[in-house]
Amino acid sequence: MTGNAASSDQLKSKLDALVAEFRTRMSGAADEQGVRKAYADFGGPQGAIRVAQKESLKATPGPEKRAIGELGNAFLKDVDALFEERLRGISAEAAERDLSRRIDVTLPGRQHRRGHLHPVTLVRRELEEIFAQLGFVVAEGPEVETDFHNFEALAMPKHHPARDMQDTFYIAGDDGTAGDLVLRTHTSPVQIRTMLAGTPPLRIIAPGAVFRKDDDPTHSPMFHQIEGLCVDEGLSFGDLKGVLLHFVRRLLGDDMGIRLRPSFFPFTEPSAELDISCVFCRGKGCRTCKQTGYIEIGGAGMVDPEVFRAVGYDSEKYTGFAFGFGLERMAMLRFGIDDIKELYLADQRLASQFEAKVWT
Ligand code: FA5
Repeated sequence: MTGNAASSDQLKSKLDALVAEFRTRMSGAADEQGVRKAYADFGGPQGAIRVAQKESLKATPGPEKRAIGELGNAFLKDVDALFEERLRGISAEAAERDLSRRIDVTLPGRQHRRGHLHPVTLVRRELEEIFAQLGFVVAEGPEVETDFHNFEALAMPKHHPARDMQDTFYIAGDDGTAGDLVLRTHTSPVQIRTMLAGTPPLRIIAPGAVFRKDDDPTHSPMFHQIEGLCVDEGLSFGDLKGVLLHFVRRLLGDDMGIRLRPSFFPFTEPSAELDISCVFCRGKGCRTCKQTGYIEIGGAGMVDPEVFRAVGYDSEKYTGFAFGFGLERMAMLRFGIDDIKELYLADQRLASQFEAKVWT
């Protein structure tokens, strides 16, 4: 045997062993990354086959190097072909896996938690519906209100003691002192806006957010009211009472009663506080109503002629009644919630317990 044949035989058996090892690594590789790593270890520039080829070349005298080089290259070509084939195999396997992923149409669908209307929204909508059936339309006004609409035109001039009934957030003017704007303390300014914009007869309700410096289990700095205003010829306190009794019974049940207690608001005369039968004991007397059988829900009264004067209405010709209730208070009574703060937790579990009545 010549030297050439000897060294190329040696190299050949070494490369045969390496290629066998490479095949094992290839078929053992589970993914493309594994296949590429195996290729780098054997066929890459630093791979075992090139290293063996280089070593063999080094040990081989000049004229025989060509045969060694060709032998090594032939093996490298095989390794490349094996590598390409395995890569194609891996991607075909992946495609097959995708195709064979079956969908079991009998499995139950994934449950998505549904959103739910807030209790205050539910009560507002119920009230809007009840009043719509009585011919009231919904009116709106801004939450940042002028002193004129919030107080002045409602017979509360500056320094009037009644302003203290509603602790007000004033909006500072450019010079930092309290300006002419306030966060509205009640929805009554919508009465003024509506009367200024139209002429009698009028029948509106105005739900919306209001703001006061108040904070305890039944009072919040931001809460909602619903205002009602009806102006026409010949309206009496009896009409007011009839409307209030009707809406309370529609909202809370036909066994509900109401009580109008004399009270004071600068913009109504006479004025009353509206009490309704306690929804918890239905008038028998319990802890919530402090054994009185009644719970207060808001204020009401006949529009004061002073207010008609401020908006240019003839108080000899027209009379009107107005009322304003806390929506949170109504939601708490309607759904039996005892802390107003629960309404502001944005807790889906709370909201999802309540369903609106469907009015027919
Ligand atoms: C008023 O705001 C009058 N504008 C109501 C009115 C309108 C009277 C039209 C006559 C004619 P009062 O300040 O009492 O009134 O508030 C009405 C209701 O809002 C209260 O009965 C209560 O249910 C609710 N309320 C008042 N303050 C808060 C508060 N901080 N948090 C939650 N609800 C409140």
